[in-house]
Amino acid sequence: MTTVNSEKLSSARFTEATDAFVEVFTASVDFDQRMAQQDIQGSIAHATMLAACKILTEQERDDIIQGLTQISTEISNGEFVWSIKQEDVHMNIEARLTDLIGIAGKKLHTGRSRNDQVATDIRLYLRSEIVHITAELSRLQRAILDLAEQHADTIMPGFTHLQVAQPVTFGHHLMAWFEMLSRDQERLQDCCKRINVMPLGAAALAGTSYPIDRFMTAELLGFSRPSANSLDSVSDRDFAIEFTAAASLIMMHLSRFSEELILWSSAQFDFINMPDAFCTGSSIMPQKKNPDVPELVRGKSGRVTGHLIALLMLMKSQPLAYNKDNQEDKEPLFDTVDTLLNCLRAYADMIPHIQAKKANMYASAKRGFATATDLADYLVRKGMAFRDAHEVVGLAVRLGLESSRDLSELSLAELQQFSTLIVADVFDYLTLEGSVAARKHIGGTAPDTVRSAIEAARVGLVPR
Ligand code: ARG
Repeated sequence: MTTVNSEKLSSARFTEATDAFVEVFTASVDFDQRMAQQDIQGSIAHATMLAACKILTEQERDDIIQGLTQISTEISNGEFVWSIKQEDVHMNIEARLTDLIGIAGKKLHTGRSRNDQVATDIRLYLRSEIVHITAELSRLQRAILDLAEQHADTIMPGFTHLQVAQPVTFGHHLMAWFEMLSRDQERLQDCCKRINVMPLGAAALAGTSYPIDRFMTAELLGFSRPSANSLDSVSDRDFAIEFTAAASLIMMHLSRFSEELILWSSAQFDFINMPDAFCTGSSIMPQKKNPDVPELVRGKSGRVTGHLIALLMLMKSQPLAYNKDNQEDKEPLFDTVDTLLNCLRAYADMIPHIQAKKANMYASAKRGFATATDLADYLVRKGMAFRDAHEVVGLAVRLGLESSRDLSELSLAELQQFSTLIVADVFDYLTLEGSVAARKHIGGTAPDTVRSAIEAARVGLVPR
């Protein structure tokens, strides 16, 4: 709940009350209250450090910690009364602390500013959200590995230009998705290194004249180190942009998976059955089963990329150091976290229920002359130059097209018209099974290779 009737913030300098609309316009409490627990965590560490440095007494520190602990409970229980007059999460908590413990509450802000405070809160918030995002990503990766394992031998067409190119296994295709998500995991971990640097102590912009111990506060909050420059500390939002860029890449990947699931579940492809629980019907067409979840995820990827652009534009012309513009960083960032977590959750829940229609996948690979390259490779192994082999196979494909047959369905005599190098063993290479089994180098689509890739991937994953 937010009220609009308490004392004006930093009022002594002002002779006029803030315009009522401006008060609402400039307030951020409606959304930044999401960082309340991080704000309290930061304040407890700050007060602990101030007492250790003899800037606060031990009694004052204890009162502050006890008051903040009570506020934390009030917030968790939904009893805390948020006020627009107090502008943001930081001032709301400080005002309540002073109500609760009196003068010691007013001393908490010694040696800091909301500028270093808010930068610290966002970092703490993102750090904890990345733990959840990583866990959801791992859950999705595990679901992909399980499905890939079931389909290490399932043959489907591999595509380039969305035209049938060469046969692959469905397990191999799924492992391509897995690889994309592995890079996403790495990007998040890498971004954490730069998130986990502590701005506190930068104060408004120039640091503070109190004898503070920034290493101590950093250690108390689990940061790897204090930031190196006070001006940069209060102004820097690179870490938020990096995170949103990593999130945009994850969403771009999910959007690509979505596009494939949507195509594969169409009557034209008919490669998979989407679970009913993740689809909806049409209000007018009784036959419809729409892949709503992948479609929505595909749509939401644009929204997250929009947030990335918003954050880049937010920062692009800002002079050092803190500017109120920075308050605009939170909504895109929070929505990025929510959208990403929801989409990952939907995907991790949905993937285990995807059913492959193996016979349709197989028939589709056969229809597209997917083993044409294998025939060319066969001729090359028998001594023909690749370009000549390419030409010979083109003629064989034309015969197949004219007579509506796959290459493996042409007779040996028919194939021998195109080259006398062709003998009976050619059929070992023209089958879809022979084609995939031959690609057994690391990174290849052979069923045994895919099984090894899955096994190796399981070892690298965050344990269940
Ligand atoms: N609500 C503000 C923000 O989100 C906190 C920092 C305010 N600092 C200031 N100098 N007005 O950025």
